[in-house]
Amino acid sequence: MSTKFELKNLASGKISQLDALSGTLGPDALDISQLTKDQGVFTFDPGFMATASTESKITFIDGDAGVLLYRGYPVEQLADKSSYLEVANLLIEGQLPTKLKLSAFQNSIMHHTMVNEQLLRFFQGFHHNAHPMAMVSAVVASMAAFYHDTTDINDPRHREIFSHRIIAKLPTIAAAAYKHSLGQPFVYPRNDLRYCANMLNMFFAVPCEPYAIDPVAAEALDLLFILHADHEQNASTSTVRLAGSTGANPYAAISAGVSALWGPAHGGANEAVLDMLLGIGSVENIDKFLARVKAKDSNVRLMGFGHRVYKNFDPRAKIIRSMCYRVLDKLGKSDNPLFELSLRLEEVALKDEYFVSRKLYPNVDFYSGIIYSALGIPRSMFTVMFAIARTAGWVAHWLEMVSDPNMKISRPRQLYTGPKKLDYLPIEKR
Ligand code: CMC
Repeated sequence: MSTKFELKNLASGKISQLDALSGTLGPDALDISQLTKDQGVFTFDPGFMATASTESKITFIDGDAGVLLYRGYPVEQLADKSSYLEVANLLIEGQLPTKLKLSAFQNSIMHHTMVNEQLLRFFQGFHHNAHPMAMVSAVVASMAAFYHDTTDINDPRHREIFSHRIIAKLPTIAAAAYKHSLGQPFVYPRNDLRYCANMLNMFFAVPCEPYAIDPVAAEALDLLFILHADHEQNASTSTVRLAGSTGANPYAAISAGVSALWGPAHGGANEAVLDMLLGIGSVENIDKFLARVKAKDSNVRLMGFGHRVYKNFDPRAKIIRSMCYRVLDKLGKSDNPLFELSLRLEEVALKDEYFVSRKLYPNVDFYSGIIYSALGIPRSMFTVMFAIARTAGWVAHWLEMVSDPNMKISRPRQLYTGPKKLDYLPIEKR
């Protein structure tokens, strides 16, 4: 039975009854959808600190316990036993695929990897040092121009083709952005390779010599992608939902998600962590750096620390930290000064009253850059890697939203604090 709440306007005495909606896990959510009609007021919650923007069956986070479930499966189990494409299929379809279904999905993804040649020419318009996130966001938005008339979001088959295409082509677009920044020729996708192995090949192969794909690198990438695949209503996913709620072309909605992910408070943190570690330089400078972080109004943050939802260890950070030992060891790079520095930084911060009292723990971005760097992926591409992985989640959320017959345009209201009605003053009288 749902709990009822009463809200009383102390001035008029008017009482509204509000239902608390129960999900399968997590706190109840007060249904305030009739509140404005009833009481003539809006709710006010900048930053969505206490607002559930939607109902969803995809991902669950318990931030106090450090739990993350994709469609009910703990991320630790998926990281241990699954693959990125299986997880993508799970997120999209809602259940673990059979062998036959997984193989059909993998086959479809690996046969949508090529992009239209005209799309590749877009890269010529960018300067060689354009940030890859800017290029990826622009080129993904441009996909809408190629598939606009053929994408009917009310047709389930069209939705499926869109979802396979975008997951398949994101690595190709990312690799093209990387090759453009290097001035190297673009490497076409190879459909005989697995998803991450193909990506490494497109990133690092050159026409003048053979390139051997390191299975350790491909496996590490696949694992990182599983951990980044979805994270319920984070800023970029909410952006995809908001843009998509207007009925916009889904490629344009995904591009909006890429742009939202870029910020350092979100996916851009992985690049910022490496910048920070290089800036700190060595363990002797940790105390000095943390003093700057803690100084009032310093605007310096310990990047890769803190999370809106996790007030305990981010389970993804734990997995990536132990993965660092394994991957660096297997790649013969166990003597990694940046990893040593980040371990020590974490240790010092976790004992510091400033971080303890605010419940700030390492998040997914604290250690991921160490692995990307060890794989030879440059810093400017870190957030692009996050975008490729998160595409599965964006697609799953977009599909969940547009398949809902009750989908509504997302249109928040505001607390207006601007001037009251003014009369226009002709310019000569101002
Ligand atoms: N370093 C120093 N202080 C911090 C940090 C940090 N990384 N994170 C939060 N705080 C402090 C903040 O100054 C505030 O202190 P006070 O109460 O004295 O004003 C308090 O902790 C609460 O912070 P907040 O900014 O109100 O918390 P939020 O939930 O709005 O922000 C966050 C969450 C992730 C944006 C923030 O923790 C942050 O900026 N972290 C660094 C950037 C980062 O690593 N982002 C990646 C997030 S995980 C991956 C993803 O989402 O893509």
